[in-house]
Order: sequence, then structure tokens, then C-alpha cells
Amino acid sequence: MEIIRIPRIMQDTSRGHLLRSRTIGFVPTMGALHEGHLSLVRMAREENNVTAVSIYVNPTQFGPNEDLTKYPRQIDADIERLREEAVDILFLPDDSLMYPAGFATEIEVKGLSERMCGHFRPGHFRGVATVVAKLLNIVRPTRAYFGQKDFQQTVIVRRMAKDLNLDAEIVICPTIREEDGLALSSRNAYLQPHQRAAAAGLYKCLNNVSREIKAGLHSGARIRDRMENMLGGEPLISAIDYASVYDPETLDEVEDITGEVLLAIAARMGTTRLIDNMLVSV
Ligand code: PAJ
Repeated sequence: MEIIRIPRIMQDTSRGHLLRSRTIGFVPTMGALHEGHLSLVRMAREENNVTAVSIYVNPTQFGPNEDLTKYPRQIDADIERLREEAVDILFLPDDSLMYPAGFATEIEVKGLSERMCGHFRPGHFRGVATVVAKLLNIVRPTRAYFGQKDFQQTVIVRRMAKDLNLDAEIVICPTIREEDGLALSSRNAYLQPHQRAAAAGLYKCLNNVSREIKAGLHSGARIRDRMENMLGGEPLISAIDYASVYDPETLDEVEDITGEVLLAIAARMGTTRLIDNMLVSV
């Protein structure tokens, strides 16, 4: 596995592969890799000639009171896992190369960025859109892989790629879960053992409401009530940022359910913020 730290060298390396008509599959990450990340890596490797992964804890997507400094970092273990997955290229830049002095450009995907998590994490998706645009321009992938776990991120990245005529095909991969349904996340490492068991409550809520929707519950207001009641019954959930039903394209809340809808939750257990979602068709 080639480890590349300099954007210019990454661009030249990709150009070399593309000139030889090789496809490049790319998985952007912030590291602390788990099976969720690795599922994207495996998909990228299956569908492309060259597999590239980036590890970069992007400071601009963290708010001033968020977990940037304590975000889990385990670069040696990550490199080992990527080697085991036969990844070809690891792009591993640092802040001085991604945001050199004088850096002044930001990408704002309007509307979509203000909904759901955007309401509670102002500026977060501006940071995500900007760094993903940079990474796509540096790595120049044929396809870039994102997890459904971060549903709003996938909608925003797709919108940005379309609006800015970016080349890469954006591929969305299913959420990988623990046995009890908890979606894998680097942030699960923050959970105390008693919180860890209760964290599966998000998935249970999504699952239960999904069944109720299929059985005929179609009122947005009643679905929100059901979700808030179920999550409210878990004493270790200290706050519910949102728990509702959305249009999966516009991310608007849905009042009367038809076709495909997105159930999504963001909730806090102490200082840890958990998100999860599920698509349901009626
Ligand atoms: P990170 O949280 O490290 O996630 C990297 C990718 O892995 C994202 O596309 C995310 O949706 C996916 N992922 C995380 N948990 C998953 C799971 N349980 N199942 C399937 N996929 C999962 O998302 C980011 O980093 C950053 O915002 C980034 C896009 C790298 C920009 O900085």
C-alpha cells in the first residue's frame, strides 16, 4: 500500500492510473476504522481497478463545542487494517496541506445543509461539502463510496457533485450494524458499557416504527409521537435532537406518508451524539 501525504502527488498518481484506463474507487474517512468503513472499502475494491482510502479528521466540520480534539485516532491500527484489505493507496494529508494559510473557499449546499443535523450542528455540512469537494479533486476517483449511516451527508454530497459537475459517481452503501442493531460508528467508543446496551434503542425504535408504518400508520405527527415516546422511555437517552419522518430527497418532514420515506433519529447519551436512519417503503 502506497501512503501519499501530498495532494499534488496524489493527483499525479491518480492521473497516471486514469491515463492507463484504470478505474479508481475512493473511500473518504476520518479513521478509527471499523467494519462499516471496511464494507465501503470492499465495495470499492470489487468495482474498481485501484482502491484509494483517505484518513483525515477534518477540523472544519467540527463545531467549537464538539469532539475534534478527542475524536478517536489510531493511525497504526488503521494502516494495518487497510493493508489487510489490500488497499492500493492511502491518502493521509495534514491540516497544513489541506488548509494552508490564506485558504478562503467554502462550499455551501443550501437548504439541505440546514435540515436535520444541520439545525443542531451549524456549519457542519459546509465543512463536509468543502472537504469532500477537495478530496474528490485530489483523488479524482471514478466512483466514491459513502455510507447510508450518514444519510444527510450522502444527499448533500450527491447534490454538490451534480451541481459542480464533478466526475465521480457517488455510490451509497448500506449501514453495517452490531448484532443488537446498533449502527457501527467511531463515536461508539465514547459509550460507557451501560450506555452501549441502551444505544441499540435507536435501531429498535426505527425497526418498530417501520413495522407500524407498513401496518398502516401513515400520519407524520403520529409517527413523531411514537418515536419520541419510544426513545423517551429509555432513561439513558439524555436528549432527542430529532426523531421524525422525512422525504429522502428533499429532507423535508413528511406529514402524509406515500412511497419511500426516511425515518431518522439523532439523540444524545450524555455527551455522545448518536444518529441512525432507515428507509421505509409503503
Ligand atoms: P467517517 O465518519 O469516518 O465515515 C466515513 C464513511 O464511512 C462515511 O461515508 C460513513 O457514512 C461511512 N460509515 C460510517 N459508519 C458506517 C456504518 N456503520 N455502515 C456503513 N458505512 C458507515 O463521514 C465522514 O467520516 C466524514 O464526514 C467524511 C465524509 C470523511 C468527510 O470528512
